[in-house]
Amino acid sequence: MAFEMVGVVGLGTMGAGIAEVFARAGIQVAGVEADEQALARGRAHLERSTGRALDKGKLTPAEREEILARVTLTTSRADLRDADLVIEAIPERMDVKAELFAELDRLCKPSTILATNTSSLPVTALAAATGRPDRVVGMHFFNPAPVMGLVEVVGTVVTDPGVRAEVGDLAVRLGKTPVEVDDRAGFVVNRLLLPYLNHAVTLLDHGVAGRDDIDNAMKLGVGLPMGPFHLLDLIGLDTAYEIMNVLFDESRSDRHVPSPLLRSYVAAGLLGRKSGRGFYGDPGDGPQEKA
Ligand code: 3HC
Repeated sequence: MAFEMVGVVGLGTMGAGIAEVFARAGIQVAGVEADEQALARGRAHLERSTGRALDKGKLTPAEREEILARVTLTTSRADLRDADLVIEAIPERMDVKAELFAELDRLCKPSTILATNTSSLPVTALAAATGRPDRVVGMHFFNPAPVMGLVEVVGTVVTDPGVRAEVGDLAVRLGKTPVEVDDRAGFVVNRLLLPYLNHAVTLLDHGVAGRDDIDNAMKLGVGLPMGPFHLLDLIGLDTAYEIMNVLFDESRSDRHVPSPLLRSYVAAGLLGRKSGRGFYGDPGDGPQEKA
């Protein structure tokens, strides 16, 4: 498939980043949001991210304009009719996502591949909401999408192997490395990463070490780009908590019990960068960039 035009539904941090990745690869993008306010946030995200690349001399002003011009922003899902692939990046609510997939199935041409960027919900259930389950896959990007080099290509028991392969080839065209994963909770990365992040919160909760010391230990001792608390703030504490719950639901293992401290932060609305404060963002930490 040529993948000349793709749709991205949901232009939050991940959706806007994914739209940018496609546009940078020369592909026309229809970016869909629920209302004008959400569209404006998506546009601002794209402008900020490409502006950062411009400031660093990684894009010329003309290249930046070309990338932005490739993204058409719209509130009408009907604009996705002729897309070769539509990727969904809306909040992680199964009922809303299933409704969206059923609608995309009705709207889009029969050959359109329907993909989800979900990090925690079963791709199989979304496929079952459509009349084309063989053309539904997970296409899981990592935050920040324009920077991280991986795409998990998630296939279900009914995914057409040819579709899976085409999506893998598309990921390569986007400059990413695809890995093929079956539809199991957390796929590969979150299944390994989230228990580690959750355990860092448990160490903090038990007073084994302080936030900054744990972050420094993992950055300097293991060579990670970010310590676990900075990374939790980037991912979003609500997202992290949700993924832990999904891992626990599938495994029923003590290893996957979400930390009570993580739950408290989420309940208090301290969600990380997206809310302005998480493990970092106290007045003493200086300003934290909102995603
Ligand atoms: N959007 C676009 N570009 C960004 C960006 C953003 N939000 N944040 C950073 N960048 C770019 C910068 O422009 C810079 O680009 P350049 O190399 O072309 O100049 C590059 O990334 C490096 O940025 P900085 O020099 O400003 O900062 P760092 O060197 O500290 O890197 C980082 C920032 C790339 C975020 C790095 O700290 C990192 O890799 N952190 C780990 C991120 C990670 O693990 N992500 C996966 C999370 S798990 C996930 O997403 C799954 C989900 O389901 C939960």
